Amino acid sequence: MNTLNLQTDTTMPSNRPLAEAPDEGLADALLDWFSRHRRDLPWRRTYDPYHVWVSEVMLQQTQMERGVAYFERWMERFPDVAALAEAHEDEIMKHWEGLGYYSRARNLHKAAREVHERLGGRLPDTVEGLQARPGVGPYTARAVASIAFGRDVCVIDANVERVASRLYDIDVPVKSRQARAEIESRCAALLPSGLARDFNQAMMELGSLVCAPRNPACVACPLAGWCRARALGVQEDRPVTAAPPEPVYLTMATGVLVHDGLVLAQKRMPDDIWANLWEFPGGIVEDGESPQQAVIREYLEETGLAVNHPEPIGSFKHSFTRYRVTLYAFAVNLLSDPSEIELRAAQEHRWATWSQIRSLAFPAGHRKLVRHLDADVKFLAGVRP
Ligand code: ADE
Repeated sequence: MNTLNLQTDTTMPSNRPLAEAPDEGLADALLDWFSRHRRDLPWRRTYDPYHVWVSEVMLQQTQMERGVAYFERWMERFPDVAALAEAHEDEIMKHWEGLGYYSRARNLHKAAREVHERLGGRLPDTVEGLQARPGVGPYTARAVASIAFGRDVCVIDANVERVASRLYDIDVPVKSRQARAEIESRCAALLPSGLARDFNQAMMELGSLVCAPRNPACVACPLAGWCRARALGVQEDRPVTAAPPEPVYLTMATGVLVHDGLVLAQKRMPDDIWANLWEFPGGIVEDGESPQQAVIREYLEETGLAVNHPEPIGSFKHSFTRYRVTLYAFAVNLLSDPSEIELRAAQEHRWATWSQIRSLAFPAGHRKLVRHLDADVKFLAGVRP
């Protein structure tokens, strides 16, 4: 990936009067900047519609560098719509493991099947056609329609919202209907016909490389001469955002059960949080309960199996949306006959070797636990490899 040269942008018009023909030259300056500073991203090499689609879904809620690493690994295994459509869901989830918001992966799979089975493997090339596919909302539909197929539609993500809020000094909350309407009409007015692929990516690229949330690099910005917020010195106060939600702290407990050298894992329900991911049985520690007591109770509730003697393995922290989770993990001892297992919170269970465990997709806390156990020689000595 190219690194950004933060020198003053010499194409920037100095002291432009903002009032007359206020946006004249703006799109050209942006496109010129993009042609010189664009990052070399893998989907930009061919603009294959499947590549653009997967990249746009992956990049939602994901940093670019991380997105690129996942994208490359994904394309090695699922190089086209057919490969994705025909893959097993567990393998798809494993390739998504760590990106979070797992419904994105499940919907990619569903949509790939539709496109493969009903549309001859070709993605629709209109916003409406794309948006009719599972998991494809207005953002993804517009991104794919413009970036892969050159349709003249604007794309508005958080980067574009920030760039537009500053350019036009939008002083109402950026998520409000009023701000949204203004951003959409401003972007549509700026969009040069036939150049949506580059224009949209240039707006996003500028937002991520220059017009950053904090300390925007205005001296390197090709649009500084047009920027109302900068002219007023309020660029750091735009966009106007609501206070983030208060964090919610959760304590969870889980138990790793080894029987006959195999480890018990269960696959979560399709309509639950972390749907279709695997886990060791466990759950939320209730008020007045210790994590050890919670593990014993959860095993009985979720699997019908009685366990005792929970031995601490460690605690693992992770966050998602507003939740801050501490997961306490224990090795547990089986009291019941394993054939009495009766799943109540999962769709499937498996008595797995360690290499099978490593091939399954787990939510973040359990993934950290698996990695921890991966280095625990004493634990692994009792488990079939
Ligand atoms: N963010 C999401 N999609 C992007 C793209 N195509 N270019 C730059 N940033 C992006």
